[in-house]
Parts: sequence; structure tokens; C-alpha cells
Amino acid sequence: MCGIVGYIGPKQAQDFLLEGLATLEYRGYDSTGMVVIGEQGPRLVRSVGRVESVKRDLEGDPLVGSYGIGHTRWATHGAPLERNAHPHPDTNREFFVVHNGIIENYQVIKADLQKNGVQFISDTDTEVIPHLIAAEYRRLGNVTEAFLSAVQQLHGAFSIVMVSTFAPDTLFAARLSSPLVIGIGDGESFIASDPTPIMEHTKKVIFLNDFEAAVITPSEHVIINLKDSSTIERLPQVLDYDPDVAVLGDYPHFMLKEIEEAPQTVRSALLGRLRTEQNLVKLGGLDLVEEQLRYIDRIVIVSCGTSYYASMVGEYLIEEIAGIPVEVQLASEFKYRNEPLSRSTAIIAVSQSGETADTIAALNKVAGYGVLRLGVVNAVGSTIARMTDAGVYCHAGAEQSVASTKAFVAQVSVLALIALNLAKNASPLYEELIKELDNLPAKIEKILAQKQEIEALAKKYAHHRDFLFIGRRYLYPVALEGALKLKELSYIHAEGYAGGEMKHGPLAMIDENFPTLALALDGELFEKTISNIQEIKARGGPVLAICNTTEQLEGIADDVLVIPRTIEQLQPILAAIPLQLFSYYAAIELGRNVDRPRNLAKSVTVE
Ligand code: F6R
Repeated sequence: MCGIVGYIGPKQAQDFLLEGLATLEYRGYDSTGMVVIGEQGPRLVRSVGRVESVKRDLEGDPLVGSYGIGHTRWATHGAPLERNAHPHPDTNREFFVVHNGIIENYQVIKADLQKNGVQFISDTDTEVIPHLIAAEYRRLGNVTEAFLSAVQQLHGAFSIVMVSTFAPDTLFAARLSSPLVIGIGDGESFIASDPTPIMEHTKKVIFLNDFEAAVITPSEHVIINLKDSSTIERLPQVLDYDPDVAVLGDYPHFMLKEIEEAPQTVRSALLGRLRTEQNLVKLGGLDLVEEQLRYIDRIVIVSCGTSYYASMVGEYLIEEIAGIPVEVQLASEFKYRNEPLSRSTAIIAVSQSGETADTIAALNKVAGYGVLRLGVVNAVGSTIARMTDAGVYCHAGAEQSVASTKAFVAQVSVLALIALNLAKNASPLYEELIKELDNLPAKIEKILAQKQEIEALAKKYAHHRDFLFIGRRYLYPVALEGALKLKELSYIHAEGYAGGEMKHGPLAMIDENFPTLALALDGELFEKTISNIQEIKARGGPVLAICNTTEQLEGIADDVLVIPRTIEQLQPILAAIPLQLFSYYAAIELGRNVDRPRNLAKSVTVE
């Protein structure tokens, strides 16, 4: 989703802005813009399209100046047009603003400003901000006061960074529910909507919290409480972060790279936590709340998209292994539900980015309830990681492709560890699960070696308009995830169903043009899945089955892909891999932009 960068210091601001925006490209965007203020005054460039094309446009005619801000926009209010791209200036081009999120009361503010003669150029909610700051500046005569006063009038969820011709060498920032991090260099300062662009330059950072503003110079960082304008003392923290992991290397796409990282992803998630020899799971991140966890009798997991499907696997795992009732809820729904929550309920937020607005909103909703809030998060130091009482990091490394792949694998691995940790050896499955978790990386390697076979299957099926995915029990969430991957990458209409539900409606869709990918792995419900496949075949539907031996599906499925056996509880981790590869190759076959599917963003920071 939208990305923000800002620089102030002795160097040319343009270099960091371009480099930082390129680093944030993975979040998804449709337009790019920057403003740099130099001795000649401000120069604003905005364009629909890639950072690379802005960079090309500036070759031979660079922006000159030592402070500036940049933005990649993912359209919310107004189409992706140049006039809607950020930064947005006020009428006199004295204040320039970049903004992530949504200003909910922009129409009221806009109407007021229009009454006073302000002309609006864009269709965005953002444009009210520079005009409002300019109006406040005329009233107050001080840039900091004007910025604070304007921001205090805004409602919504946002992060804002501003530069002004009246305040040389200063960046102004404010946060309400959308991330911003300040990087503290040697005589220079950076700001960005996530730490990635900053890490190359400094690991010393200050995260802004909700309702905080900052006035930043090359050597000073004043944090201000937006509620009462008081100053907040906050020492910088040093982030342990390796930006190198986000390099494409020899891979054609980040998505393929990230799928192929799955064996290492599982290893990293288990490292130091799964103690096979001692038959033990140790989760340091939960140590602090060990006592509280003893009294938990219900868990609600909140998440979105792929993380939601991983959470569903977690629900089955925790219930079966630890015997604690679990409910998984879409974070976007949870926030608006009026359900009673007792203090013996724990909330677990599952999120790759740790910045998903819906998931943050769900956690905010229960802030005053006295419930334990835990996180299963990949991005170290992200908002969710910081706002939860305790948690377990996924350690999957940076995920750049918009479609989530290795994060799913890591989330399910971590949720399995949490289930084991909560079970405290009481489950009959305890030992077997511990052993089998350890065997997963080698089994994933075997699936990855079948890449070409999967590619051929994807080519064969990619030209269908519709697709169905079915699975039962632990494989039901995987069917949902398989359908999500296929639709987001290839734009093929795909639906995921629990096999048992077919006869309650979806069978009506089946004909010779509507193929089904059936997850028919060994397990308690294998025979029932075979019956579901037979029902589809009887209606002429082509079937591609993922199974554990060819013989089982002979004469039943049109195509089979055999993957290694594992215990049912861990099948989601293995079964997800061929589905990810299937979607990847289907998207390639159809000429789609795999790493950046249309209309989507990596980090969904608006509700
Ligand atoms: C799908 C995908 C999204 C995310 C969802 C939640 O491939 O990437 O569905 O899973 O937006 O994001 P996080 O996990 O960052 O909270």
C-alpha cells in the first residue's frame, strides 16, 4: 500500500527518496511523487507509474536540495492520475504533504476551505491537509503550531509527513494508526512508513505511536503528544534487521524465490524453539505471560487474507493438541461485532506485515478489556509486534511478493509450536508432532523438486475461467488459501470449499469447463474426499488431485500430483507449496504480473 519516505541532511535528498521508494515498491502502488526543497525553491515531480520511470525522467535534471519527501500511492480516493499523486501542495506551494491512510472528515474540512476560496485540484482526501496547514499558518504564524493544529483537526487513520518552504531543513510528521519510523543517522535523519528503506543507512530508529507528531531536523527529533501538545522523551532503539534478505538474486520473481525459501522458512520458525531431543517446545516470546496463559480457556484469533487461512489451521491445531476452544475471526468483522469477551480469553493477532489496519483495529478494540493480546507476526518491530503483550515472531525474513507464500508456511509452523507449548506434553500427538515438524523441510524440498511437473499442470489448466478447490478438515483452510492464491495471481475466478459442502450448493456449478483441484491426502476423511471427487466426475468436472500415491486416484482423477506423506495436522504446510507453485505458473502462463497483481497492495494499511 502507500509508502512514505523523507530525508534531511547534508546529502542530496533525491538519492535517498528514489532508493527508498524503490525499496517500498513491493507494497504495491499505482503512482509516484517527490518534492525536494533547495535554494531555488521547491521542485515537485509526480507521475502515474513506477519509481523507475520517475528516476529516468530525472536523469540529467535532478532535484537539487537537502530535504524532501516522497510517496508511492495506492489509490483510495480518486483514480491513479498525476493530479491525485502525492506530495500535495497548498495553493502557494509553500506546504507539501504525503499521506498514508484515510482522512474521514475531509469533506467537512474541504467544504470549509472552499467557502474561504481555496481551489482544489485533486480528487483526494489528502489535499485538504496542505490547504488546512496553510490556513493555520496564516492564523498562527508558526509552522510547527500550524502543522499540529491542522493535524489535530483530522479524523481517521493516517500517517503524514510535511515539508515547508518556511521551515528549511525540517521534516514534520504525525501518526494516527498508520506506521512511521524515524531513522537517526550521523548528522542526517530519515523517515519512512516501514524500516526497510532506512536500514541501509542507520539501524538507530524511533517509532512514532498513535497520536504522536515529530519535528525532525538533521540532529534533533522532538516527539509531541497530539492530544495535549506536550513533549515526549523517547530514546532511539537499535533494530536487529537484515535488509539483504530482500534481494531477488537469480530468481525471475520474488514469489518463486519466496516459495523456494519454504524449507529454510520452516527451519527458521523452529530454530531454538523445537527441542526434539528434549521432546520440548520453548517459546521465549511467551515466557513473560506464562502465568496468564495457564488461565486462558478461550482463544480468539484475528487476521486477514492468507493469515486468516493460516489462523484457521491454527484453530484446528490448538483445539486438537491443547484442548482449548478457539475461534478465528476476520479482523475486519471482529472489530464491529458486539460479542462478550471474558478476561480468560486470549486474542492472537496473526499478521505477516504487522501493519494490517483491520488487524490493528481488532487489537485496539479489545485494548481496554483486560484480555491478553498476543501476536504471531513476521515483521520485526512492526505495529502489531509492539502493541501486543507478548508473541512469537515468524522469522520468515522479508516477504516482497504481494501474494503471501512463505509467511503462510511460517505462520502455520509457529501456530503448531504454540499449540504444543500450550499442550505442555498432555496431547497423545505431542511427540509425533515434534518429530514430524523436524522432518518437514526435507519433505518440502521434495515437492520443490517437482516444480516442472506442477508447471505443466498449471499450463494445462490455466485457461479455464473458473476453478474450484476442495479439502476437508486440516485441508479445508488450504483449499481456501489455494483459491485465494489463484484468483489474486491469475485473476481466474476460484472458490475454495470444504469437500462436504459440495452437495449443499456448489455442485450446481460443475461441468466440463469447471475444473476442481482436490486435496486428497491420506487421513481420516480420505474416503469421503474420494466420494466428493466421484460426485464431481459424475457431473463431467475435470479433477486434478493432490494425493500421497497415484494408485489411490487411478481411474478417478484426470491428473494427479503425488506429494510426501506427513501427519494430518501438518499436511497444510506441505499441501500449500504445490498450490502456491500452481498459481505462480498459471499466472506466468497468462502473462500476469506475479509479484504485483493488479489492484492489490502488500501491506494493507487502510481499513
Ligand atoms: C494474500 C495476501 C493477503 C494478506 C492479508 C493480511 O496473498 O497476502 O491476503 O495475507 O492482507 O496481511 P498481513 O498478514 O500482513 O496482516
